[in-house]
Amino acid sequence: AVVALVLYPTALKVHITIVSVSSQMGRGMETQKAHCLVLPFPTHGHLNPMTQFSTTLHSKGVEITLATTHYIAKNAQINAPSFMKIETISDGFDVGGPEEAESHQAYYTTFQLVGAETLGLLIEKLSRLGRPVDCIVYDAFLPWAVDVAKEYGLLSAVFLTQSCAVNSIYYHVHQGLLNLRPNGPDVMVNGLPPLELSDMPSYICDPESFPSLANMLLNQFLNVDKVDWVLCNSFYELEEEVVDWMQKQLPLKTIGPAIPMMHIHKSIKFGTIHGFNVFKPRIEACMEWLNKRAEGSVVYVSFGGFADLRKEQMVEIAWGLRRSKRYFLWVVRATEEAKIPKNFMEDTLDRGLVVSWCPQLEVLAHKAIGCFVTHTGWNSTLEAICSGIPLVAIPQGNDQNTNAKFVADVWKVGVRAKPDNKGLVTQEVVQNCIMEVMKGGRDNNVKESMAKWRELAIEALGDGGSSDRNTNEFVENLVQSKSY
Ligand code: UDX
Repeated sequence: AVVALVLYPTALKVHITIVSVSSQMGRGMETQKAHCLVLPFPTHGHLNPMTQFSTTLHSKGVEITLATTHYIAKNAQINAPSFMKIETISDGFDVGGPEEAESHQAYYTTFQLVGAETLGLLIEKLSRLGRPVDCIVYDAFLPWAVDVAKEYGLLSAVFLTQSCAVNSIYYHVHQGLLNLRPNGPDVMVNGLPPLELSDMPSYICDPESFPSLANMLLNQFLNVDKVDWVLCNSFYELEEEVVDWMQKQLPLKTIGPAIPMMHIHKSIKFGTIHGFNVFKPRIEACMEWLNKRAEGSVVYVSFGGFADLRKEQMVEIAWGLRRSKRYFLWVVRATEEAKIPKNFMEDTLDRGLVVSWCPQLEVLAHKAIGCFVTHTGWNSTLEAICSGIPLVAIPQGNDQNTNAKFVADVWKVGVRAKPDNKGLVTQEVVQNCIMEVMKGGRDNNVKESMAKWRELAIEALGDGGSSDRNTNEFVENLVQSKSY
């Protein structure tokens, strides 16, 4: 049976092998381990939560291989845990990366074609090497992976990298359940509070603004009826009502926040966090600078890995930071640097540090940080909750609008900076929001709310917590499915 498995990587052969090996060796032996092939979309906000979830799966006895693109494998700084085997597939842009594609649409189309083929080859290779795959845990941005899983007779779990609320909105649109009436009353979505159009993911209100991305986000649910599990990087207590509703539609389990436990317990040591860095972080510069600051005195500012802020917006943020008279650590990616106003750096040398990329988890865990000015990308939001750092939300579209609504009005863990009628958050608003959050929020309870959600996140991940139970169930189901 083992030989047959090596030569023919199909579910049937996996089945035969497992039964035969398990009958000889019994439960708990090395060969009993389920093997997941984890396939993230190749950007920070996807690679890192899926690496972290892999670590959790491994701690529960699952063998992990993570597949990334040739380009990421060659160009990113990868600090992989020793148990994790990294393998590569192709997105069709092995040398120049996604930037080489003519358009976003061209990138996704090529990735689908070349990715599906090379993923199949990888599954065959792993089988030949005696490491047959049982289940593909794939990023919802790569929905074609489920077809590859089916072709090879494998189990599949889709991993949703955004909040359950946002995924529910996309699911509603995909199923034709959402009726948007611009300028009409609030948008009503099952399991969610009334939303204004400005709280909706931008590609839903204005799909023409970025049709390829709108398609990709809606296509997350294209093949969802074929998958065995739907895993969401959130935790039940944070989004109870919408999780309850989604669980009536799909076999969904919340398994997050997919964040290192040592981050949650603020026991991070330099270089110990596993993950991918597509940009080089300025670790020493940031930490040395933060070490000189008093507890809770620094405003951390970052808009994640993609946001392309208008120049006027960068200028307002810069002067807003100066007006706040607080210390600040501002991440400005190399491509955004030219938008910083002249003289700003010299003017604020004694107060601020501007870096092109930082070790965000380490920074958020540092005792000097008192507030996080953020685009409310989902990972940044979860990381802030787990660090207990209150937020000033300046969303830049995509899912960030919805995250900002929840941050300010539902979880009350920060304030949302209100843009003017030209869509610009002015320097006065930036200054006021920072001052408000640094002194504890409008009702002086933002810090308390944040501490409450942090505790709930820790409980969800801890032994017997909601995410821990869901992950255990997933692993148990996986092992059971494997053995019949
Ligand atoms: C965007 C979306 O907004 C997000 O919700 C979606 O799921 C992925 O695409 P992004 O703009 O990358 O994400 O933001 P975010 O989700 O917050 O992820 C950024 C990641 O980069 C975080 O894990 C953060 O810790 C990391 N980061 C950011 C650094 O490590 N260093 C930095 O200097 C800035």
